[in-house]
Amino acid sequence: MKVILASDHGGVNLRKEVAEVLNDLEVEFEDIGCNCEGSVDYSDYAFPAAERVASGEFDKAILICGTGIGMSIAANKVKGVRAALVHDLFTAKVTREHNDSNVLCMGERVIGPGLAKEIAKTWVSTDFEAGRHERRVSKIAEYENK
Ligand code: RB5
Repeated sequence: MKVILASDHGGVNLRKEVAEVLNDLEVEFEDIGCNCEGSVDYSDYAFPAAERVASGEFDKAILICGTGIGMSIAANKVKGVRAALVHDLFTAKVTREHNDSNVLCMGERVIGPGLAKEIAKTWVSTDFEAGRHERRVSKIAEYENK
């Protein structure tokens, strides 16, 4: 599995913690920043990361900003991306099982690093259940391709 990791200035600290999780899990990943002193725009990171998932270069992305909301709104504009904004362990698991989400968004200003790291761990290690969920996810792709 290959993961692309990004944040804006509001998610830098949490992005570093999530990088540690990916290292511990021996998940291959590329961290595209931001390497920022001041503030940057989350869309400048969400779009390239989401596009590299949609193209198949990466299997998944983890995107972090202050709330996770900007990243998730932007990532979901990219065709083929199913970005989930997650701040609890239940939805971290179920969005993989039911939605086959390929982008995880979190907000550094919303939850603490301990929970966020567990969410990242759960999300990267949970498989899509397919079955009836396959049909539902396919309908999203069909809509995008209309
Ligand atoms: C930046 O201040 C903040 O707006 C951003 O990190 C994010 O929370 C947007 O959704």
